[in-house]
This record gives sequence, structure tokens and C-alpha cells, in this order.
Amino acid sequence: MNLIVKEITTEDTYPLRKNVLRENIPLSFQFAEDNLETTSHFGVFEEEKLIGIVTFIQKENEYFKNQEAVFQLRAMAVDKAYQGKGVGKLFLGETLKLAKEKNIRKIWLNAREIAVPFYKSLGFSVVGDVFDVKFVGNHFRMVQEQDKFK
Ligand SMILES: CC(C)(COP(=O)(O)OP(=O)(O)OC[C@H]1O[C@@H](n2cnc3c(N)ncnc32)[C@H](O)[C@@H]1OP(=O)(O)O)[C@@H](O)C(=O)NCCC(=O)NCCS
Repeated sequence: MNLIVKEITTEDTYPLRKNVLRENIPLSFQFAEDNLETTSHFGVFEEEKLIGIVTFIQKENEYFKNQEAVFQLRAMAVDKAYQGKGVGKLFLGETLKLAKEKNIRKIWLNAREIAVPFYKSLGFSVVGDVFDVKFVGNHFRMVQEQDKFK
């Protein structure tokens, strides 16, 4: 596979958000912060086809309280046909390097239980206890302070 990672628009993220993250889940695929200046969306392309997405939203959490450059990673998804083939790992690894150039360094996320090993493989750690997100299921808060992605 010849994968290319680059910034994408909010609208670009919608089809994969709907198909991968909101299938049978009655929650919005749009976020209030999607079009803020401080929000970034990245995509991974195989040839011309967008096969993975992720969004970074500037937002504090209790783990990184009162610090600048704290971002929530949201809506990470890989096209179903490409899951489990290493695309997500390569994509997020490359994205973290690009994100660092934009000063996105302290990152937290709410991981679905099934995705915890995926984020661990990229250097994120679980903090705190399991919690439930209505319609989606068990989640874990995970964090990463970026020094690995130089
Ligand atoms: C989670 C997701 C983004 C991972 O992307 P992917 O391309 O499928 O993952 P990769 O093939 O790059 O896997 C990388 C590593 O993550 C782990 N991993 C990925 N999916 C996993 C799963 N379902 N169960 C256990 N481990 C998994 C593996 O340890 C793998 O490491 P390896 O190198 O030892 O094989 C993708 O599967 C997806 O979009 N899933 C549905 C939506 C979702 O759950 N998004 C996350 C919301 S928090």
C-alpha cells in the first residue's frame, strides 16, 4: 500500500465518521468544535481514496489541567475494508509527527475498550477507571505527552 497522510477538511471526515463510528449509534457525527481555528483534521489516503481519519480539538482535561497545547484526539477511524492491516498504526504515527509541528503535544482521548491495545501500541497510557458512554459502551481515558515523535 502506498499511504499518504495529510490535513483534510471537516467535511472530508463525515463519510468515515458516519460509516465506521456512527453505524447503529444515534449520536451526531459532527462536533461543536469541528470548524474552530484550533481544530485539525488529518486523513490517510491509499491512491486517491480516503481510508482513515482523525481529529484534534484543543481542550483541557483534568490530567493536563491549566496547560497549553492540550488536545483531545477524537473520531479516529479506519475504513472497515482496511482495518487490522497496520494502516491505523502507520497513520496515527505519521499524524502525531505532523501534529507536533502544530504544537499538538499533550494529547488525551476516550478510547473504546476495543481500541485500547491499538492506542497502547502508539505509546498512549490508560489513566483512571473504565466509564460508560451511552450507546457506545466501555471507554478508557488515555493520554500521551509527546516526546517520542520528534
Ligand atoms: C481502532 C482502529 C482505528 C485501528 O486501526 P487499524 O488500522 O485497524 O489498526 P492496525 O492494523 O494499525 O493495528 C495496530 C495495532 O493495534 C492493535 N489493534 C488494532 N485493532 C485491534 C483490535 N480490534 N483488538 C486488539 N488489538 C488491536 C494491535 O495491537 C496492532 O498491533 P500489531 O502491530 O501488534 O498488530 C480501527 O480498527 C477502527 O477504525 N476501528 C473502528 C472504530 C474505532 O473503534 N475507533 C476508535 C475509537 S476510540
